Amino acid sequence: MDFTAGYGALNLGHNPKEVIEAVHQAQKLPAVLLVGFNPLMGALGKTLASILPGDLSVAVFGSGGAEAVENAMKTARASTGRQKFISCVNGYHGLSFGALSVCGSERFRMTVAPLLGHCELIPFGDLEALERSLQGKGIAAFIVEPVQGEGGAVVPPRGYLQGAAELCRKYGTLLIFDEIQTGFGRTGKMFAMEHDAVVPDIVTLSKSLGSGVVPVSVAVTSEEVWKKAFGSRDKFDLTISTFAGNPAACAAALRTTEIMQRDGIPDRARALGDYAREKLQGLKTKHELIKEIRGRGLLLGIELETAGLFSRTMEQNLSIMVISELLHKHNILTSYFDFSPTVIRFEPPLIVTTEQIDEAVDALDKVLSMGKRAIVLSFGKTAIGSMLHQ
Ligand SMILES: Cc1ncc(COP(=O)(O)O)c(C=O)c1O
Repeated sequence: MDFTAGYGALNLGHNPKEVIEAVHQAQKLPAVLLVGFNPLMGALGKTLASILPGDLSVAVFGSGGAEAVENAMKTARASTGRQKFISCVNGYHGLSFGALSVCGSERFRMTVAPLLGHCELIPFGDLEALERSLQGKGIAAFIVEPVQGEGGAVVPPRGYLQGAAELCRKYGTLLIFDEIQTGFGRTGKMFAMEHDAVVPDIVTLSKSLGSGVVPVSVAVTSEEVWKKAFGSRDKFDLTISTFAGNPAACAAALRTTEIMQRDGIPDRARALGDYAREKLQGLKTKHELIKEIRGRGLLLGIELETAGLFSRTMEQNLSIMVISELLHKHNILTSYFDFSPTVIRFEPPLIVTTEQIDEAVDALDKVLSMGKRAIVLSFGKTAIGSMLHQ
């Protein structure tokens, strides 16, 4: 069982039949039309405008998540005439140059430095830090995930997103929500921003937008921001990308949004998220090895208590050993969060059943019951066994 779901790309599971059928239909249309718009692109733009809150109504199309982030950053600069960006420690926005420039991990940024200048990191959830940074002149945008994904399923303090929106408005800075991982039901609402009823100036979406069947992404903004950024003869073509908005991608996205609404997938994720969370909390009371259960909907993290192992390296890698046990002994695929390696990801497709959640939690229970040292030894045996097989 896959409890990683393409890190949020497979909310409807692997290869949903209806989405594949829609893609096949669309593949009878001209595949790439760079002059003018194909009708599916218009339909998708309209659908997104209808399901997104507030005045988010103009979509810039792309293929991958990082591309949507680039488009959002470009839109912010072009619209405000300002250069700088603020983002959060442990925030993840993709690996292209602009996205890496606002990446919240030193390790990721340094490898390919120098990146964009004028980018500042602040702690996630800290409105005072945000205001201090906004007071510096020329901030085009603050980009933030409504719930941090790779940071380890971190939900911000109550009122943070609302406060961030107010501060950004006060200083004329645009607010970008990166909902690439949190979008399309993952956190128990269609979009995570709806938990706080906050509407940003730009939102980025990808991953489950195309159900993982076809790569597709969008940066959606208001008509006002769009017009300021690219609404003139000399700028309108600055967001073109050959495959952006191709019929197959748009058909996948249209069918995905239709299924999400028809089958009440966000509500299902909320109910199943509550169920899974309660079960995981139950495990926490039983196992000292669990430090914290956190997250929202079915974007959940299980933070391990790693202290007390043979070495620091082993402590840092304990989650990998638990993950290995889950895979090799119980056939459950999970992972850790990239910027929080001691946190195990519990992120199944949103079509998961309560029985499957029970199975995964029982497996985790069995692995943790072994105790830290036995987990390390078993991992060692599995690793040696697979080396001997090669
Ligand atoms: C919040 C967030 N933003 C952006 C991205 C980048 O998306 P992609 O890998 O499609 O470029 C990811 C990918 O995991 C993500 O989780």
